[in-house]
Amino acid sequence: MKIDVLTIFPEFFREVFNFGIVRRARSANIVEITVYDIRSFTTDKHRMTDDRPFGGGDGMVMKCEPIFNAVEKIVGTTERENYPQGTRVVLLSPQGRVFKQVVARKFAEDAKHIVLICGRYEGVDERVNEVLVTDEISIGDYVLSGGEAAAIVLTDAITRLLPNALGSETSAENDSFTNNLLDCPHYTRPPEFRGMRVPEILLNGNHAEIERWRAEKALEKTKKVRKDLLEGVEK
Ligand code: ADE
Repeated sequence: MKIDVLTIFPEFFREVFNFGIVRRARSANIVEITVYDIRSFTTDKHRMTDDRPFGGGDGMVMKCEPIFNAVEKIVGTTERENYPQGTRVVLLSPQGRVFKQVVARKFAEDAKHIVLICGRYEGVDERVNEVLVTDEISIGDYVLSGGEAAAIVLTDAITRLLPNALGSETSAENDSFTNNLLDCPHYTRPPEFRGMRVPEILLNGNHAEIERWRAEKALEKTKKVRKDLLEGVEK
């Protein structure tokens, strides 16, 4: 899988993909992540990536030209219908559909090349959306100062679902949101800390009982904080 990030703040990403599962997946060539500076695709003297909005109003809008140039270079074409199979060009913005574990799974299964465009300022020239973008995605109902943090979220959530990204000792099977449930609680040593005991059942080695306890706790927690997941209703 190839993931390319387009941003006006490449420095933002300097270390963030160098830890844990993402780092390991990169080292094992499971994922190849490249961060591109949108400014390097400008052609004007002042290397402008943004400009004032037509029609007036506050803030600046990201120009379409450098983003078209970048996609042309990275994907090979700006014609969405001619993108190589498995190519997704994603615009991160609060106007997009909300990113969920099912979306991460779909990307991990179907996509070969993901280009993440980090919006900034008041927005991105809509022609980017109209022509280049296959998916406009938001990571939640709040406004960030830019799509960079969202690009990190998508990269992490998708990478860990790629085949062999999680070591054999872990798996995504029991992750929260799999089967519409939150994960159960976890404990490790010591068995007693400041008077707080680990639930006895986890110490008795009866795996069938432990599995039952975990399923019960997962359901309890989901009922308590995310009833919407059980009802299959969007919150
Ligand atoms: N850019 C600004 N807010 C965002 C959000 N909630 N999700 C994705 N990109 C964003």
